[in-house]
Amino acid sequence: MPEFDDAFRATLLQLFQWRRDVRHFRTDALPPGLVRQLLDVAALAPSVGLSQPWRFVTVDDPARRAAIRQNFSACNAEALARQDRAALYARLKLAGLDDAPCHLAVFADPDPQQGGGLGRDTMPETTAYSAVLAIHTLWLAARAQGLGLGWVSILDPAVVVAALDVPAGWMFIGYLCLGYPTAAADRPELERLGWETPQPATLLQR
Ligand SMILES: Cc1cc2nc3c(=O)[nH]c(=O)nc-3n(C[C@H](O)[C@H](O)[C@H](O)COP(=O)(O)O)c2cc1C
Repeated sequence: MPEFDDAFRATLLQLFQWRRDVRHFRTDALPPGLVRQLLDVAALAPSVGLSQPWRFVTVDDPARRAAIRQNFSACNAEALARQDRAALYARLKLAGLDDAPCHLAVFADPDPQQGGGLGRDTMPETTAYSAVLAIHTLWLAARAQGLGLGWVSILDPAVVVAALDVPAGWMFIGYLCLGYPTAAADRPELERLGWETPQPATLLQR
């Protein structure tokens, strides 16, 4: 086992602090092989029963990207209409779909053969949790490579499933934009724009 010393811990903390959800991307392409490399790191994430139920789809086809973009616009317009703070919401940039060179849709297989069903009898949602952990691992690995990742959830899962023609049953988890950020930030964009303030983790003692 390698030794993780104070210097490593300090750097790791910086990685967590600078991870960021990114919505402003440069359009330059990613180096060949980098996405595969990041997915190999993502696959180190923990998963229920070692089922590794995450499923990734790179979206390059312009028509499919356009369908996702259109659905984001429709869902975002609906969200705006429901907002109490509509003026502020309208100023937020909530996806980097137009500029990010890499689009990655993430799904969970709700009933993977791998893992023999271990651990998910009572909590079937653990396959989705596992996919989320893979995304978080990918997020940090991407930042460590100087890349930004932006998670887009303002989408209709049924539309995403149809637009990407994925195998039946796959559950949509998130749509990720990946690319080089136009700027670095040590605070969330939603904090900087006055939407929300980060808080310490809630802790109850029993
Ligand atoms: C499950 C999930 C869904 C998210 N969906 C969106 C989204 O649709 N659009 C967006 O701009 N950010 C989205 N985010 C990013 C959050 O807004 C962001 O993580 C939060 O504001 C904290 O900022 P930070 O990630 O830079 O620390 C999502 C994050 C998560 C974990």
